[in-house]
Parts: sequence; C-alpha cells; structure tokens
Amino acid sequence: MFPIKRYLQDIDTPQVVVFKEILLQNIRDMQKFADESNVKLRPHIKSHKIPEIAKIQIDEGARGITVSKLGEAQAMINSGVDDVFIAYEIVGETKINRLIELTRKARVCVAVDSLENASELNRAFAAKGLTLDVLLEIDVGLKRCGVKPSQDAIQLAKQITKLPNLNLKGIFTHAGQVYGALSYDEVVEIGRKEGETMVNLAKQMKKEGIELKEISVGSTPTAKISGKVKGITEIRPGNYVFYDAIQMGLGIVSARACSLRVVSTVISIPAKNRAVIDAGSKTLALDKGAHGVSVVSGFGYIRGYESLTITRLSEEHGIIEGTSTKDLLHIGHRIEIIPNHACPVINLTDEVAVIDGGEVKGFWKVLGRGKSK
Ligand SMILES: Cc1ncc(COP(=O)(O)O)c(C=O)c1O
Repeated sequence: MFPIKRYLQDIDTPQVVVFKEILLQNIRDMQKFADESNVKLRPHIKSHKIPEIAKIQIDEGARGITVSKLGEAQAMINSGVDDVFIAYEIVGETKINRLIELTRKARVCVAVDSLENASELNRAFAAKGLTLDVLLEIDVGLKRCGVKPSQDAIQLAKQITKLPNLNLKGIFTHAGQVYGALSYDEVVEIGRKEGETMVNLAKQMKKEGIELKEISVGSTPTAKISGKVKGITEIRPGNYVFYDAIQMGLGIVSARACSLRVVSTVISIPAKNRAVIDAGSKTLALDKGAHGVSVVSGFGYIRGYESLTITRLSEEHGIIEGTSTKDLLHIGHRIEIIPNHACPVINLTDEVAVIDGGEVKGFWKVLGRGKSK
C-alpha cells in the first residue's frame, strides 16, 4: 500500500506507529455500519486513549465516547469531548466527588450493577441537587461485572427507577467472552446471543413498565453482529480503530486493516535461527489473548516475515526464532510488528508516530495513558 517506507528509517525505535489512512478507513467503516444499521456508535477509547483519535471518531459521526475509568473521562473531557459513558462502577466518596465534578463539565453516564452502589450515587447526587444518568450492566457471559439477564435484572431496574436522583437510561453489556472463541463461527454465535439476550430482556422490562432508551452492546469482534439485532440502539467497539493480531486470529480482519504497528530494530543475531530486536515486553506487552485461549502464536505478527516468530520477550529484548532467521534479517534491520493486543501497547507508550503517505507526519500524545483511577 505504501511503496515508500521512509518512516522505517526516519524514526528511533522501538516506536509505536499509527497509519492514519488505515485508521481513518477503520473508523469510517464502523461508522458506515452503524449508520446503515440505524444504531449509535459510542466507541470505547480505552484502545487508543488519544484525544485526536476521539475527535476524528466524533467528527465522523460517533455519538460520544465510552471510557473505563474516571481518569480517562477526565483526560477526554479536558480535551473537549462532551458526552461520555463511563462503563465502570464508580464506588466510594472520593470517586463519586470526582464524578460530580465531571458531570458539571460534560454529559456523563455511568454503569451500575448493584442497589448498594446505585443508592450511594443517588444520595451523593441528591445532596448536590443533581441527577445522574446510569446504564444497568448486564452479564451475557463474560462473568465480570453485571447482573444476569433474569428476574434479578428486572428487580434491580425497578429499584433503580425508584431512586429520584438517578435516571435509568437503559442497559448495557460487553460480550468480552468472545476473546475466548476459537473460530469465527463461535464469534458469530456469541454476538447473536449478546444482541438477542439484551433485546429480550428489554422487552420483559417494558412489560413490567420499565422504559429503556438505550440497549447498548459491543466489542470489536461482535459489534457488527449484535449491532444488527433489531432493537439494539448502540454499539461500543474500541479496538476496531487499530485491530491487532488477536483480531486477525479470530478472523475479524487481515493484516492490511491493522493500523497500529511497532517498528523495531534487529540489534543482534547470535545464532543462525535466532535474532534479537529492541522491542520487549515494555513495548509489545505480554498479552497472548484473554481467557487462557490463544489464537496467536508468539508475541506479535512480523509483517512480511511470517515464517519468523517472536518466541520470548524480556523487558527490552524480543527474541525472534525461525529456521532462516539469519538469511532473512541483518543487524540494523527495521521490522514492523502487529502486536497481539493493541490496547496494552498503547498504554505503554507516551506517544505514537503518525504515518501518512509513507512518512512520519507528527506524534500524538497518549493523554489517557495509565489513568487507572
Ligand atoms: C464495557 C466495554 N465496552 C466495550 C469494550 C470494547 O471492546 P473491544 O475492546 O473488543 O473493542 C470494552 C473492552 O474492554 C468494554 O470493557
């Protein structure tokens, strides 16, 4: 796609790079799906944590963003984003006070999955004369947070609607168990179930007098499947801006759609079958896929050298093995790696190099990096 690979020589390594043309294509493709399916796109920005990318997503049609943590919300709101869903339970006085401050600056909605937490939020917002939008978290199989899509969820929804300073906007789920799938067929089945379970639950709630504005689902592998189920109102994929080797392994995309890569230099070839690069676990991250199931081999996909595998990582060294390593690589050689999981790679870097037209056009700061509080 890019005949001139000037960027490979121009940058100091190891460096996380983002190909702007591919990034834009991924953003537009998901937006097109959302528009054609008549669902809102509220992308999760945990994958990029970069205000410039959030701005592109919103300019292209996203209706606000999703974040995990208050700190990420803060970084994005300070950069001008005005509509944020914090897909996380906000517990304890310190955090609730921070949340109240954020609601004064932007439209903010949070996750709830217990009456204890909902009551605590209600009390704090009542004391300030404010109302908070919430989405009830439903567990469709990830077994993380969330209530089961059963009578428990209906009862909890009823109790939340009685809290005067909370506004129950709807229900949401994240079918993250999809990352344990071993085939695309399994992905399709998980996505279908994610959408249908949520729509059925909303129907039951409606029968009991609970009107929901939002039925929100999403992960990158399932968004285009659950998002097609009639009744779903919103999708929240995050990783789709970059994709990565895990998404390739699940059959979601090919390498050409992966907009985030790590450029690394071969620093040593100590044996015929082994080379060492300057990207280790501090750059590539140790992720091999969730749930103990792996659709990838090694610690990243080396573009153009599919016979070679990154077999081991220490903090600052990556070990490449393959029978013809010495014939294929030389010391000083620059290679491009599609990481297994783009999200932790982003969290490990201060800035990404932006490649446009085959050249480094600048750097974007990862402002939401490390904001775990
Ligand atoms: C609640 C929630 N929604 C959406 C997403 C986005 O999913 P993905 O990373 O598959 O794009 C995540 C990811 O962890 C999530 O936790």
